Amino acid sequence: MDVTSITNSWFVVALVFIITVAAKVARSRTLPGAKKTIKTAPPSPPEAKGAPLVGVLPAVLSRGLQAVIREQHRELGSVFTLRSLGLAVTFLIGPESSDHFFHAAESEIAVDDVYKVTVPIFGRGVGYDVDLDTRNEQHRFFAKTLRPAKLRVHAHPMVHEVEEYFGKWGECGVVDMKHEVDHLLMLIASRCLLGKEVRENMFDEVSSLLHELIGGLQLISMFFPYLPTPAHRRRDRARARLEEIFSQIATARKSSGRVEEDMLQELMDSRYGDGRATTDAEVTGLLLALLFAGQHTSSTVTVWTALSLLTHPEHLRVAVAEQERLVEEHLEHNHHGSGDGAVVDYGVLQQMDFLHRCIKEAMRLHPVSQMILRRARRGFTVRAKDGGEYSVPAGRMLASPLVVNNLLPYVYKDPHIFNPDRFATGRMEDNAGAVAGAGAGDLAYLAFGAGKHACMGEGYAYQQIKVILSHLLRNFELKLESPFPEPENMLSMRPKGKVMVTYKRRKLFCNT
Ligand code: HEM
Repeated sequence: MDVTSITNSWFVVALVFIITVAAKVARSRTLPGAKKTIKTAPPSPPEAKGAPLVGVLPAVLSRGLQAVIREQHRELGSVFTLRSLGLAVTFLIGPESSDHFFHAAESEIAVDDVYKVTVPIFGRGVGYDVDLDTRNEQHRFFAKTLRPAKLRVHAHPMVHEVEEYFGKWGECGVVDMKHEVDHLLMLIASRCLLGKEVRENMFDEVSSLLHELIGGLQLISMFFPYLPTPAHRRRDRARARLEEIFSQIATARKSSGRVEEDMLQELMDSRYGDGRATTDAEVTGLLLALLFAGQHTSSTVTVWTALSLLTHPEHLRVAVAEQERLVEEHLEHNHHGSGDGAVVDYGVLQQMDFLHRCIKEAMRLHPVSQMILRRARRGFTVRAKDGGEYSVPAGRMLASPLVVNNLLPYVYKDPHIFNPDRFATGRMEDNAGAVAGAGAGDLAYLAFGAGKHACMGEGYAYQQIKVILSHLLRNFELKLESPFPEPENMLSMRPKGKVMVTYKRRKLFCNT
């Protein structure tokens, strides 16, 4: 089968799927009694013009999805629908229109349809394979695992990994930042998340199994997740082997009475409300879910933040000065500190306020995904920014496009400019409730989502990104050699291509 025929058959599969979804939605709109509701209900959201059947597809293919969403936002306002090939997606722009999307109960706004594709990867019995009550219990395990007291415990191992990794760099050289950060974050994850048994004895095997697992997530997996394709078979073998590995580690820990401080241990020790312990299969699935949620995202944000700082010398200088000040202050209290590890701990990481704002600002401009998706289980009325009201039907796909929501000019001054000071105390532009009188609360800054499904790993993510970037700022002079990249494509917002950076060790600080 050549490439064209593979592409064609995927296209047919996609078309069949879209038509099936469209037919379901059409049926749900003609349910008995629906007519009566429509009479009194506000109108449907305005729709973008497009050719019959293909709708906005030609515009998306020629100008890109982001550009089309922006154009339609300008033309149609903050609530509008894009259609293509029978699929309709209603976009909700700005804090004023997003409350129901982010805060409604699961019975109103569904998230599981969107994430069902993860079931064969994480495995049965966890995440989107289980009922809502069980999933809520598992989220409670995550919350416990990621609480501040645990982050404090992870600070030292993170710093240790980072020091060891960059200690192997030479006096000067050139590296692909994307590759370096990916590898380093995997080392951190294997120590803090997967356990020191993996970090010390099985790093290469587990890394390659995870690679196979991710490789099993393809376009066709959306429609036929269990089709026995070679990639799906490799995914299933990798998932089974990972479960075997974590079961062996859990058994060894239990039989020796050894207790570690990593997330594996937390999940092994977690109990459901009825007292039931987590099974090895569940522990494996939950670990994989955390890994998937946190690795690619943290790596993408670390690289975009580095890129943003390296192309804004005025902010880079402030970031370096902050590190310099913290090292001096801390060394005054810590005379035995000869290496970075002795200097940087949880408390010091919390004081890296400017670096924190740089990361936050980089995520605003370069969110890890273009949009967050949901499906309306029930019809609802949404109010647009101009006060107009619209009826959104049950079954409709909904989108909150971060690439537009994070750049609203009435929330963010000069929204396309990288300016970490917009989040400084006293300014805090993301507090859009105050800015726009919108009562926006948590809805103006969406890089970590918001409401019911807001990111549970935000603190962990900031911590590991700060550990990496602060070490680089203290110990190296860096220069970007590649041009500032575009995002990879419509689905992945990672920087495109290699991000080549030259480094030279600094002599600024007494620590190496
Ligand atoms: C900079 C890095 C990260 C970014 C930008 C990020 C972003 C997000 C976003 C946008 C969501 C919401 C998705 C939705 O509403 O559909 C989310 C959810 C989530 N994230 Fe993160 N994330 C990051 C790192 C992490 C890390 C390190 C972990 C854990 C180790 C993590 C765990 C989770 C979990 C468990 C959820 C699901 C919450 C729920 O469904 O209730 N994330 N993340």
